[in-house]
Amino acid sequence: MAVLTIPSGTPAQQERMFQSESEICATLEPLGIDYERWDLSILPTGAADSGPAQSVLAAFAQPIAEMQRRGGYTTVDIIDVDPQTPGLDAMLARFDKEHTHSEDEVRFILAGRGIFFFRVNGLVVSLEVAPGDLIRVPAGTTHWFTLCGERRIRAVRWFQDTSGWTPQYTNSGVDEQFQPLCFGPAYIGPRVPTPFA
Ligand SMILES: [Fe+2]
Repeated sequence: MAVLTIPSGTPAQQERMFQSESEICATLEPLGIDYERWDLSILPTGAADSGPAQSVLAAFAQPIAEMQRRGGYTTVDIIDVDPQTPGLDAMLARFDKEHTHSEDEVRFILAGRGIFFFRVNGLVVSLEVAPGDLIRVPAGTTHWFTLCGERRIRAVRWFQDTSGWTPQYTNSGVDEQFQPLCFGPAYIGPRVPTPFA
């Protein structure tokens, strides 16, 4: 399940963490960004993380095809990176600077975690995505992305035209003002001193 925060908001907004599908949808909808949850439990145990890509695509064939129709996406693939992936640092460096694309960025997360930042109408929103999250970012949306600490992501991607996915950098420098703070499944909130500590 994703975690949404508003790091550019008021102090009260900055402290809030949105962790329900309805809250996340309500926050992203005005930005034109779609968020859905897809049920990974239809896959055999371990398949989302390491099963054959073709089996994963086959298991979700119907909703994947429906998404293709919705957005006019011609190509679907699975990206799969981990800390051993050659050139991972260079790959991440392409996308952790604020940029836009001339086509939608559509991802269904199968494994791993990453964090998107969106800057729309002066508001910066961060969304930590996790397995089962599907996000559709419209073409032209100002954003950047990086992986969480385990440097792992496996995701289904849809493309209108893969050449359109070249990042167009804004060179705003805004991305340098926000820490990519991932919470992850083990996050239990700020440490609270106890009498026994
Ligand atoms: Fe992007």
